[in-house]
Amino acid sequence: MTRPRWVSRTVFLFAAIGSAVGLGNVWRFPYLAGKYGGGAFLVPYAIALAIIGFPLLMLELAIGQKMQQGVVGSFRKLHPQFGGLGIFTLMTTFIVVSYYAVVMGWSLLYFLGSFDVKWSGDAQGYFFDRVLQLSDGVNSLGGINWVVLASLIAIWLSIYFCIWQGIKSVEKVVLYTVPVPIILLAVLLLRAMTLPGFLQGWALYLTPVWASLLDPEVWTAACSQVLYTLSLSCGIMVAYASYRKTEEDIVRDSWITTLADSGICLFSGLVVFAVLGYMAGQTDTPLTELAASGPGLAFVVFPKALSLMPLPWLFGALFFLMLLSLGIDSAFSLVEAINVSILDEKEHWQVSRVALGVCFAAFIAGTIYTTRAGLYFLDIIDHFLTSYNLLLTGIFEAILAGWIYGAEKLRRYINAVSHRQIGKWWNVSLKFVVPIVLVALLATQLSTDLRTPYEGYPTWALGIGWAIAIIPLVVLILLVFRDRQFDRLEESEQN
Ligand code: PHE
Repeated sequence: MTRPRWVSRTVFLFAAIGSAVGLGNVWRFPYLAGKYGGGAFLVPYAIALAIIGFPLLMLELAIGQKMQQGVVGSFRKLHPQFGGLGIFTLMTTFIVVSYYAVVMGWSLLYFLGSFDVKWSGDAQGYFFDRVLQLSDGVNSLGGINWVVLASLIAIWLSIYFCIWQGIKSVEKVVLYTVPVPIILLAVLLLRAMTLPGFLQGWALYLTPVWASLLDPEVWTAACSQVLYTLSLSCGIMVAYASYRKTEEDIVRDSWITTLADSGICLFSGLVVFAVLGYMAGQTDTPLTELAASGPGLAFVVFPKALSLMPLPWLFGALFFLMLLSLGIDSAFSLVEAINVSILDEKEHWQVSRVALGVCFAAFIAGTIYTTRAGLYFLDIIDHFLTSYNLLLTGIFEAILAGWIYGAEKLRRYINAVSHRQIGKWWNVSLKFVVPIVLVALLATQLSTDLRTPYEGYPTWALGIGWAIAIIPLVVLILLVFRDRQFDRLEESEQN
C-alpha cells in the first residue's frame, strides 16, 4: 500500500507546531521564567534548545522521514533488536494522552461555566470543591465525578473526529487549531495591556536576575522544559515525519518548528504576566505569590484574575477556548503517534477503527482521573512520566541513533536533503551531550525522589508512579532480548 502524504509542507509544519504548542506553553514556560531569573532564564533555555531540543527534534524528524514508519518500525529499522524501544515510547504516550485529555475536560467545564463566571467569588473553592469535588486525600477515591466524566467523553469524541481518517483529517483540523489559539492569545494580550499593572507583571517576567544562573535547578528546569515543549520522546515527530517524502528539508523545518514554539512560549508569558500584574494591583497581593504553574494557574489564579476585569464572562470564555484549541492538537498528535505504529504493522486494518480503539482505550484508562481523587493521581503520574519515562526515551533514542545506527550516517542523510548543512557538532550532541545531560537530570530526580517521597503522598500511591516508570522498562528489556533470540535463530538458519 502506498503511504499517505501531507498535502503540503506547510500543513506538516502546522501539525508539528500544533503538537509542540500546548498547555505547557501557557502554564509551564512563563512560570519557569518568572521563577528562575526572569529574562535571564532565556539563557539556559536557549542553550538547552540548542544542545538538546533542536538536535533531538532533528533526529526524530530524520528517523521518521528516512524510515517512513512510526516509532516502532523506525527504531526497528535503526536496529532490528530495538523495535521494543518504540513500544516503550508508546506506552508513555498512551498514559500521557489519557490524562492530557482530562485536563482538557476541565477546560471544557470552565468554558461552559464562564458565561455566568461561576468562580468569581471563590476561585479556589470552585476548582477543588465544585468542579473536581476533590477528596481529602489519595486514600479516598470517592467514586466517579459524573460531570467530569461527561466532559471527558466530549473531549474524546472531539479527539476522535480530528484523527478518524489519520492525517487526512489532521490536515484539515490543524488549519484552525494552530492559528485560533494564537489569535485568542493576542486578543487577551491587547485586553490586558489596557489595564493598569501589566508593566509590573512584565517586569517580573522579563527583568533578568543574572545570579539565578548559578543555581543548577535553573538548568535542569530548562532542559526538561525543552523536551516537553517540543513534544519529544513520544514518537509524535517520528510519526508525523513518516508521512513526508524522503527528500524534504529537515534542518529548515526543525528550525521553523523550534522557533515557532519558543516564540509562542515567550508570547504566552507576556499574556500571563500582564494579567497577573493587573491582578496583583487589584488584590494587593505580591506578584510572586500569584505566579503559579499547572492546573493552579489555569483553573484558579487565571480565572480569578479574569473575573476582576470588565466583561469577565467574555474573557473567561476566550481564555478557556484558547486552552481547548491549544491543547487539542497536542492531544490528538499523541493518539496519532500510536495509530501510525499500529497501522504500520497491520496495513489492512481500517484507520477509523484503529483510531476508535485507541481513543476508547485511552478514555477508559483516563477514567481514574475522573474519580474524586483524580487530581492526586494525575499529579503523581505526570511527575513520574516527565521525570523518568520521557528522559529515558530521549536517552535511549540518542544512543540507538548516535552509537548503534551511527550519527554520521544520519547526519549525511539530513545534509543530503537539507539546504543548510549541519556540522559534526550534531554527532557530538547526539552521542555525548544529550545522553549525559539527560542521565544527569534523571539521576538528580531519582536521588530527590528516593530521599523525600514526592509531595508526601503515601507509599502505595507513589508505588503506582514507580510502576509506571519501571514496567515499561521491563517490557523494553524483555522485547530487546526476544528480538535478539530471533536474530540469532535467523542467523543460524542462514548458516
Ligand atoms: N508540547 C506539549 C505542550 O507544550 C505537551 C506535549 C508533550 C504534548 C509531549 C505531546 C507530547 O503542552
